[in-house]
Amino acid sequence: MSKTLVGYCDPFSAPAGRRIDLMASSEAPQRCELEVVRIICGDPSSKGPGFLEEVVARPDEAAWPRHVDVDLQPLQPGSSVEVPAHPWLDALGSVTVQLLVHPTRPGAGAQSLVRLAGFDLSLDGDGSPMLRVGPEVGGVTACTGRPLRARRWWRVTAGFDGRTGRLVVRQDPLPTRSPSDDVLLRPAVVHRLAPHLVGAAIGGGPLRFAGSFDGRLEAPVVVGRAPDGNLAGPLDTDGAEYAAWDFARGIGTTAVSDTGPLQLHGRTIQGPARAVTGSRWDGSVQRWQDDPAQYAAIHFHRDDLTDAGWRPTVQLTVPDALPSGLYAFRLTAPDGEVDRTPFVVRPRPGAPTAPLALLLPTATYYAYANHRMTISGSEFFPSRARLRPEFAYIKDHPEVGYSMYEYHDDGSGVMLSSRRRPILNLRPGADGWAFTADTNLVAYLTQLGEPFDVITDDDLHHEGQALLDGYRVVVTGSHPEYWSTAMLDGLEGWLRNGGRLLYLGGNGFYWRVSWSEDEPWVMEVRRAEDGTRGWIAEPGEYYHAHGGEYGGLWRRLGRAPNRLVGVGFAAQGFDRASPYRRHPESFDGRAAWIFEGVTGEVFGDFGVGGGAAGQEIDRYDTRLGSPDHAVVLASSFDHSDQMLRTKEEFHATALLEHDPMIRSDIVFFEGPAGGAVFSVGSISWFGALAGNGYDNDVATVTTNVIRRFLDPEPFRPPA
Ligand SMILES: [Fe+2]
Repeated sequence: MSKTLVGYCDPFSAPAGRRIDLMASSEAPQRCELEVVRIICGDPSSKGPGFLEEVVARPDEAAWPRHVDVDLQPLQPGSSVEVPAHPWLDALGSVTVQLLVHPTRPGAGAQSLVRLAGFDLSLDGDGSPMLRVGPEVGGVTACTGRPLRARRWWRVTAGFDGRTGRLVVRQDPLPTRSPSDDVLLRPAVVHRLAPHLVGAAIGGGPLRFAGSFDGRLEAPVVVGRAPDGNLAGPLDTDGAEYAAWDFARGIGTTAVSDTGPLQLHGRTIQGPARAVTGSRWDGSVQRWQDDPAQYAAIHFHRDDLTDAGWRPTVQLTVPDALPSGLYAFRLTAPDGEVDRTPFVVRPRPGAPTAPLALLLPTATYYAYANHRMTISGSEFFPSRARLRPEFAYIKDHPEVGYSMYEYHDDGSGVMLSSRRRPILNLRPGADGWAFTADTNLVAYLTQLGEPFDVITDDDLHHEGQALLDGYRVVVTGSHPEYWSTAMLDGLEGWLRNGGRLLYLGGNGFYWRVSWSEDEPWVMEVRRAEDGTRGWIAEPGEYYHAHGGEYGGLWRRLGRAPNRLVGVGFAAQGFDRASPYRRHPESFDGRAAWIFEGVTGEVFGDFGVGGGAAGQEIDRYDTRLGSPDHAVVLASSFDHSDQMLRTKEEFHATALLEHDPMIRSDIVFFEGPAGGAVFSVGSISWFGALAGNGYDNDVATVTTNVIRRFLDPEPFRPPA
């Protein structure tokens, strides 16, 4: 059955007493049955316990409706700057507009640059600047007829003289750093006289920059007089009323400042990229705060989408009776189609309900939101031939927006991701990666019978260490890859205070992310310098817009994951997974208790991909800060030649056979204040837990650690 029902929750995580909204959309209006379900296992594949959910009994009739009407809620991608209506903008008899334009897809359809009622400056279908003036811009057109070349800066000027009916539009190249390129970039100008437009009504807000444009804009100026004088250079505003926006102000926010006398401030819509290089960037600075004038551009994309803005279909105040856990709104359409939009009920701040918590890596879920890897990326997942309905939906509805693993349609890397939009793969069973994989940990902990809370990266980012302080033991997801500074500080502080962490994943603690303060549902990454990555940050753009931090790998930021959890990213490969071989310390060392009940030397030769060590694996490495006293209990072996070292470890391109640095190491070490860390350094660990009804070596080891970690008896590092 193809998918027609989708939705998203906001917020993703909330405690009892707070509201969670479901925004749902259906291609055809229909009345759907609504249930709240608790997700025990969202993975229908054969290696786990199978799909398991429980319908939550409604505590009372008013808690949530049994049926809801769901109709079509459209998505309107395309970022812009909007300046609210203002009397001055309403009464522009004559007007001249100028801005710097760096188009990234000229020729790919008409693209709007500046729009006011009766005045529209755009790139035509060929990429040539075009001005339209007159009766609600269906009127008279003037076009330079010379397409702008992509990824070069142009000064584009357009004006209308309301006393004569004259239109002018022109383009002038700015010098590049290529003397030879410069000889090819030429100005163009066209005038047109339209006497019947004399006295036409020009203006009327709001004023919009971009909205259907791919590329960068800088320094737009609107002058309230007819075009005259030298229009090839910066406009003369002396003696005129004007507005001039400086996009270098307010980087990291949605604010857009008019530096002119009228103070016509605006704001960004749908998350265009800021802290990007502008026309004046000359390579002399790398950090936007050092010279914001070199970063006075905003990069717009026609496919940007940071807030779907849908109406709530259901507004649920989380009932007191709902214990912390992973839940979903389950909509069932009359034809049987089912859609589940997950959310987390977390405990109230400062009030954990168990000594154990599962920290769901929501930052990683947002980074992978609507990823196209099963559709068009490398053949990591052998599922392209049989696309699941969720991915077929992404393919048919590109307007749901990209993940941080893709490029925008104009070829620039996707730096921002939002949870305020349908995220098709953030649904149980959508794919075997991240969210769905992590539901196997929910299932494992549930069958273990130890009570546990569910908390998320969103919560950790906002509350920091205080979120963790009430827990003796925290379990990570299978792929906690993306961490903000606040999240990392919180975890580190908790470990310093005696926290006990099970890192049951791989490639964790890898990229720095940040969140917008103006739009806390928007997350940012800068894929700076190096790393295994979907794209490469542009020169000069390694610093985040939000918070201004230097982006990239935590390993390069002085906080390699090895320091925190004893292991760090070593390699990735997706054709098959591998087993572990135990080291002598696992038999009679001080951590031998972890292997109680495990007799063989080799273990973990089953599960997703045929092993517990696979997909992305981490290595113990004291040079990267792994604690010296850590016990390396076991290491993976027999990886295929598709398992490749992560590229930040190479000085030059290299072909290595039997690379000994490619391995997953299972480590244990004691921390301060009675705490401890256990790390498996493998994404595939989750996929082996359920084997033989949870009666297997991987589950035994995991259970031994959880049970001991829950025991208050302090751990003491070796003397
Ligand atoms: Fe990843």
